[in-house]
Amino acid sequence: MRTAGVFVFLLLNMVMEISGAVDNMKGSASEKSSPESKLKTEEAELPHTKPASFSLFLGKLLVVPMDGSHWIGLKAIAQEMGRRGHRVTVVMPETTIRMGPGKHYETLTYPVPYDKAYIDSVMSTHKDIMKKSSQPFMEKIKKRFRQFQAISDFLHITAEKLLFNASLISHLSQQDFDAVLTDPMLPTGSLVARKLGLPTVNLLRGIPCHLDMKSAGCPSPPSYVPRFFTGYTDKMSFKERFINTLVALVEPLFCKLLYWRFDQITRDFLGENVGVAEVLSDSDIWLLRNDFTLDFPRPLMPNIVLVGGINCNVKHPLPPVRLYEF
Ligand SMILES: *[C@@H]1O[C@H](CO)[C@@H](O)[C@H](O)[C@H]1NC(C)=O
Repeated sequence: MRTAGVFVFLLLNMVMEISGAVDNMKGSASEKSSPESKLKTEEAELPHTKPASFSLFLGKLLVVPMDGSHWIGLKAIAQEMGRRGHRVTVVMPETTIRMGPGKHYETLTYPVPYDKAYIDSVMSTHKDIMKKSSQPFMEKIKKRFRQFQAISDFLHITAEKLLFNASLISHLSQQDFDAVLTDPMLPTGSLVARKLGLPTVNLLRGIPCHLDMKSAGCPSPPSYVPRFFTGYTDKMSFKERFINTLVALVEPLFCKLLYWRFDQITRDFLGENVGVAEVLSDSDIWLLRNDFTLDFPRPLMPNIVLVGGINCNVKHPLPPVRLYEF
């Protein structure tokens, strides 16, 4: 358990270093070495030299990613942890949308009963629906529902093929991992972590029904925490607050609908009478791909770390701007 703690600490350290690296780039951009900018560069470099004493600890990280755009951020962390000498194992299905092997991590694949053509067909209907069309309203709703079902089937089959592959799970349990890094939007990784008794580190943007905030124990007063799909901000009129409160009231129902199949899978897999919400509330660290400069302020728990922009490459530093010119 202690090593797990160190591991989580290292992961956090790394997250901070990535943002440190950004500062570093900024520092080196203003090359004209006035003493002040030099000081800044040194400060920015500090986190780079610090972990040397910690790097004696090399851990084993299990990554259970989610496919599609969710993979990008997890891949960045998996690569960087591997580059620093930790042993990183990424579990993924044999057929994926965009996941694949990398230089600094191992991959462990498991068979799934679909092929690339099936994924393409699920995704292409998704694209069709996004396009504007002159179809009748009911037709559109039907299409959307069918499409939602297709994606939902695809996600659940993928999860089941991992969780109910007994030989794969027992192989994972013999690997002595220190922690699991996952995207809890699909709770597959969280379930594996609970089964293997490992600490969980989540990386996510948010779960539409606020299950993440609820599981992390964050207060979410509907008077100033805007709900998904409302388009409100943290400053709401009385009417907006009223509607926001109504949305907050139906959220638990929305969560049930989103996760009812996973609630069943959870019970079957763990053999305990728990649902997804209980499993997620076990999470140790939440790395949230948010930032208060882009999102609205809200109460967070101390084990939530904002890492918005973690997967962005720094291509060009911003030009120096004098504020008074505006
Ligand atoms: C479980 O996964 C292993 C390794 O990925 C694979 O060889 C095996 O065929 C899978 N078993 C089942 C029942 O799918």
